[in-house]
Amino acid sequence: MDNEVILKLDHITKRYPGVVALDNFSLDLKAGEVHALVGENGAGKSTLIKCLSGAITPEGGTITVDGREYTEITPKISRDHGIEVVYQELNLIDTLTVAENVCFGRKYGKMVNFKVLDKVCGEIFGEMGVELNPRKYVFQLSTAQQQLVEIAKALSKDARILVLDEPTAPLTNNEVDILFELIRRLKKKNVTMIYISHRLDEIFQIADRVTVMRDGTFVKTMETGETNRQELINLMVGRELKETWPARKNITSEPLLEVCHVSGMGDTDISLHVNRGEIVGLAGLVGAGRTELARMLVGADPMKSGEIRVNGRRVMNRSPKQAIKNGIGLIPEDRKRQGALQNFGVDWNVTLAHLPDISKYIFVRKKAVKAETEKYIGLLKIKTPFVDQLVRNLSGGNQQKVVLAKTLATNSQVIVFDEPTRGIDVGAKNEIYNLMTQLADEGRAILMISSDMEELLGMSDRIYTLSEGRLTGELAREDFTQARVLELMSQNQEGNP
Ligand SMILES: Nc1ncnc2c1ncn2[C@@H]1O[C@H](COP(=O)(O)OP(=O)(O)OP(=O)(O)O)[C@@H](O)[C@H]1O
Ligand SMILES: [Mg+2]
Repeated sequence: MDNEVILKLDHITKRYPGVVALDNFSLDLKAGEVHALVGENGAGKSTLIKCLSGAITPEGGTITVDGREYTEITPKISRDHGIEVVYQELNLIDTLTVAENVCFGRKYGKMVNFKVLDKVCGEIFGEMGVELNPRKYVFQLSTAQQQLVEIAKALSKDARILVLDEPTAPLTNNEVDILFELIRRLKKKNVTMIYISHRLDEIFQIADRVTVMRDGTFVKTMETGETNRQELINLMVGRELKETWPARKNITSEPLLEVCHVSGMGDTDISLHVNRGEIVGLAGLVGAGRTELARMLVGADPMKSGEIRVNGRRVMNRSPKQAIKNGIGLIPEDRKRQGALQNFGVDWNVTLAHLPDISKYIFVRKKAVKAETEKYIGLLKIKTPFVDQLVRNLSGGNQQKVVLAKTLATNSQVIVFDEPTRGIDVGAKNEIYNLMTQLADEGRAILMISSDMEELLGMSDRIYTLSEGRLTGELAREDFTQARVLELMSQNQEGNP
């Protein structure tokens, strides 16, 4: 592609205490291209985006847009050039409706006119191919639906340069297809896009060029047609990295977690079990009831009827805290809302859930908290300059690792992982898979909810499929195929696909 350069970043530097987030970073963006940006968690991708939107100011370097050079871009300059950003973390207002969020900040007459909002919103959703009631409140939506609303919000402003920071992280295959369709359509309209994702296969589907960054520095820009997955991985991590699924051992047929006819507020009725030493996958579309089940297991959502047993003993969990006492820990899907306390340090987050176990005495406790935190920082390679760094200052993927550490540190017998590797880079994914395997080998039971088909097929010993709140199938490892899992998870209750 020999299009003109419409955006040029020249030697951008941004420092935070203890971290150089961007280090003399340069990049060219050509008009009409989809330019992917890849790099490990904490490489500086989101920081770069924030320099473009005017959310933060770099200390050095220049940004040239449409031929005008700036040393600092303000939010207004950014908007004037038609730069729109869909941030990695959802930024919607829970207590407003979908339409109010999409149209937020713009005036359509003096009063809030719901008819007008509905119309504006309906048109955008129509173009996106998304079905969503504009009058619904955001807190009523699934994470995936919220992500679609975020995208609608950016599109409603006629973006010329659209920046998507991990837009597909909370989406399942179907929704990713909708988004890609949309990206192709926007491209035809000559919208230029920066696309950030840890799912490398997406890069090859949708991007024209890809830039790799590492530790805040520029590594290489390539045409996607002239590189491959393995090369990208090696450039990202700076060494040769092989992707393999860890070998499994010590699987027993002794049930550690038993779920019997559990139903909640939704129309669910779920029975399943996970044996000691087993990793069991739970597959389903958005809205199938997977997250609700996970939340009921730990008492975060009320259970209407049914029974849960851990190691043969019936347990009643009225709160996640009680669930931990009863041996069940949950790693939730939404790290911002449920997972981590944003305004607390990494140390507090990791140890909070089991503080009383660590020590009764305050001075011993402080030491123990530090030691425990350092252990998990090492184990999960959490990139943080200090043990007490506030979680909100970590990169998205590193926040996710803190959420993992928090639950792992409770030493629960049964661990429920809800989308464990969402937003995690390829290298760290392998570490997490090894860790899950190790936990299972030690005799724990792992229930893994995942929308990542490769991960489901690669990591699970058994897979249950869920649709509309009911189990539609159970597959043993020798019967795993992607087609079979997809078929079962989209089956309705009459047994029709
Ligand atoms: N407000 C802040 N205060 C202190 N440090 C920060 C802040 N924002 C980012 N950082 C640090 O800057 C570095 C780059 O972070 P950034 O969020 O850009 O990474 P990323 O490439 O987007 O990673 P991920 O894939 O995990 O989202 C990280 O080390 C992060 O801890
Ligand atoms: Mg990021």
